[in-house]
Amino acid sequence: MLKKILKWTARTLLLIVLLALGYYTKAYISVQGRLKKTYAIKPLNLNITSDSATIALGKRLITTKGCTDCHGKDLGGQTFFEQKGMGRLVARNLTRGKGGIREGFTTEDWVKAIRNGVQHDGTPLIFMPSGDYNQLSDTDLRAIIAYCQQAPPVNRVHEPCDLGPGAIVLTDLGQLDLFQAEKIDHNLTPPLAVKEGVTVDFGKYVAQVCSHCHQPNMKGTTGDHATPDISSTGISSKWTDEQFFRTLRTGKRPDGTALKAPMPWQMTAAFSDTEMRALRTYLKSI
Ligand code: HEC
Ligand code: HEC
Repeated sequence: MLKKILKWTARTLLLIVLLALGYYTKAYISVQGRLKKTYAIKPLNLNITSDSATIALGKRLITTKGCTDCHGKDLGGQTFFEQKGMGRLVARNLTRGKGGIREGFTTEDWVKAIRNGVQHDGTPLIFMPSGDYNQLSDTDLRAIIAYCQQAPPVNRVHEPCDLGPGAIVLTDLGQLDLFQAEKIDHNLTPPLAVKEGVTVDFGKYVAQVCSHCHQPNMKGTTGDHATPDISSTGISSKWTDEQFFRTLRTGKRPDGTALKAPMPWQMTAAFSDTEMRALRTYLKSI
């Protein structure tokens, strides 16, 4: 009797292992296919000028658009996630130093990477949040590229991104969003410039950088890496304007609790008064 039970248990376990291997093979092949898929992007001729006003704007934007949160204050890049079984996420070195942007990286390559999340050869970048940057105005994009192209060289060589079995399974199950190029409408025409002011429209423009975490509708997410609802139905809409601004400038809520990572309050701390007020107006309008 006992022998029979053991035999059946062993058979069941073997079956589970085989099924798991079969599923993993399918997930692996599918994710590799998505990594190798190429996207045809219409080339855009952005004339980059490096006058002092453009460079000053670019310097501000690399903070307010969150670039420095991942690529570092000096743009030298960093490994911002590494876990056994899951893999490694590396924001690349964007400077001309050792380990930086490769020789011959054109303005068109910059545009494709930032706006489309796509590399020179057409394959997708991993985890680069281009969905938030796809509608950056030409003026802002130009300033960001101009600033990056003249940023002081940083010599820092990184290991490349690596997707472990955990990341492959989660990506296959749709629990992890690694390839923003898949979701972007590459045919949309971004605005040439945006009009700054305390308006819903400008607030919506500012809030684009919140969407990869709080969702495009700003209603947040539930589950493992939950983010709160920051629209008119969220708790933060009950705060006074002053409390809201102070929270995003200091990283501390009105009740004294800290905004935990990955909420990038160093990014929102750099927002101008107009950006803050416009953002608030927009969030309350949703
Ligand atoms: C959430 C983190 C994150 C943010 C925010 C972010 N990036 Fe990235 N970026 C990445 C990662 C990760 C990669 C590398 C992807 C890969 O290796 O496939 C990358 C790659 C790039 C590349 C390609 C570099 C190369 O050598 O091919 C450029 C250019 C770039 N980012 C610019 C920017 C700019 C400009 C901003 C701000 C407007 C920005 N990134 C914001 C994570 C980020
Ligand atoms: C990289 C992901 C990420 C981005 C980008 C991001 N947030 Fe957050 N945000 C979070 C997380 C996570 C929390 C919850 C932090 C905690 O639990 O303390 C949060 C919390 C908040 C809160 C507190 C809400 C509450 O109910 O307590 C506000 C307000 C907020 N974010 C506003 C913004 C705005 C505005 C932007 C864009 C300008 C933004 N966030 C961009 C991840 C993000």
